[in-house]
Amino acid sequence: MESCGDASSEFPFGHRTISASSLPRVDSQTLDLGSPLPQREEFPFHFKTVIEPFSIKVVEPVVQTTFHQRAEYLRQAHYNPFLLRAEDVLIDLLTDSGTGALSSQQWAAMMKGDESYAGARSWFHFEQSVKDITGLSHVLPTHQGRSAERILFHAMVKPGHIVPNNTHFDTTRANIEARGATALDIPIPEARVPSVHHPFKGDMDLEQLRKLLSDSKERVPFVMLTVTNNSGGGQPVSMTNIKQVKQVCVEHGVPLILDACRFAENSWFIKQREKGYADRSPTSIAQEMFAHVDGCTMSAKKDGLSNIGGFIALSASLSDVAESCRNQLILTEGFVTYGGLAGYDLECVAIGLKEALNSDYLNYRIASIEYLGRKCRKLGIPIVEPTGGHAIYIDAASWLPHIPSSEYPAWALSCALYLIGGIRSVEIGSVMFGLQPDGTVESQAPMELVRLAFPRRMYTQSHVDYVAEVMAAVQTVAHKIRGMKIVKQPSALRHFSAHLMPVSGGLVEGMGI
Ligand code: F0G
Repeated sequence: MESCGDASSEFPFGHRTISASSLPRVDSQTLDLGSPLPQREEFPFHFKTVIEPFSIKVVEPVVQTTFHQRAEYLRQAHYNPFLLRAEDVLIDLLTDSGTGALSSQQWAAMMKGDESYAGARSWFHFEQSVKDITGLSHVLPTHQGRSAERILFHAMVKPGHIVPNNTHFDTTRANIEARGATALDIPIPEARVPSVHHPFKGDMDLEQLRKLLSDSKERVPFVMLTVTNNSGGGQPVSMTNIKQVKQVCVEHGVPLILDACRFAENSWFIKQREKGYADRSPTSIAQEMFAHVDGCTMSAKKDGLSNIGGFIALSASLSDVAESCRNQLILTEGFVTYGGLAGYDLECVAIGLKEALNSDYLNYRIASIEYLGRKCRKLGIPIVEPTGGHAIYIDAASWLPHIPSSEYPAWALSCALYLIGGIRSVEIGSVMFGLQPDGTVESQAPMELVRLAFPRRMYTQSHVDYVAEVMAAVQTVAHKIRGMKIVKQPSALRHFSAHLMPVSGGLVEGMGI
């Protein structure tokens, strides 16, 4: 796929003669974790194709289905993509969480996993890796991000509290609400308009934060920042904003906690877009991000490049909170040196966290998202701009203007993508966010988005080309897609298990379903 920028002018032909022996050998076993490879700077040619920076050692078949089969599977799943069997999905873009491919280094380390209950070698490997990147004193392993959230919030959040964030992820919001507190989203205004370009659309609105802390500081146990801002379009947060938010927090004596799931992708955006960071390695940028916060929750299923895992990391200033979290951890997750993970999982995360900061990997990762974004733009499909770190977010409200928010346009589109091309995506709209915490009042989400999230290191360019072709097909019937109604739902996190149906007739008019 083509790179986003063209730096060819920096590589004039015949710039310098290089002897092969003068170049350092790049060791694929100990990945370069920072600056670009030396050849790039000295070689006279500049190639624009960003290749997948890996070769494929193990493959798994994906299964083609027919239109009629998919229509039947969709009906059986009550028009809820979460209820489909994964085997019946051709390209699974439901999530980038825990779905990526592991590296040979990870598999090798996993074979060496130490499964001791307490003080395992693998735990110390994990702890060191987290400390190398975050610099935070207390590391608590958890089985995934939401358990880190639950345990931290149990220690810090009380009924009546308010926890601000740029945008809370759904489990973060639900875990805060489960404590009887309010989860408040205060992104910058640009974040709420899909078509608006802003290099750091994940930034927090400082004015709103200042006002909240001036008016009700005693109700705010901490401030959160989600990097990148998943529910807001996978958009990055600038280092400037992180520093400014921290400054406001310091002024009011409130800690700052990072939801760090996609910290490596955020670091790459800072390197690409923020003045003064172009020559810095993603690792050093990540270290700087963590230096400004008092703690973090992490799902290693994202930028830990692992199938499972997570952690809480806290600074020395939050030692008492760490103590309380450890007690909870033992109650519900496991001993403090494994936190519900196998020794081999700890090994996998320890390596994955560092591989996620590799420049070649991040360059390919962000370029592959942008590649699909460019294809959508060419087709005239409205997406959240600019493209984010792990996903394309289709603006379903704009693409299907004939479906009102009350009939869940993004949900309908997500079903249509499966029906027409076997692609699974996820709605981030009024089904996911439109129910009040008490499970009664229905409200409208600020945006009706369909997220196509890319598992890490899993799909190749031809998979992406196929996705674009399916989108072009959906484009031709977009005006015929019908709205949806909910026929059965639980009181919380309803999107995972709700049953839906087209409001009238079939999902796509004239297609027999
Ligand atoms: N925070 C953010 C920003 C997330 O994106 C997620 C998960 C979590 C917390 C919770 O982590 O799944 O390990 O418990 N996001 C996944 C997604 C599920 O599809 O975006 P978890």
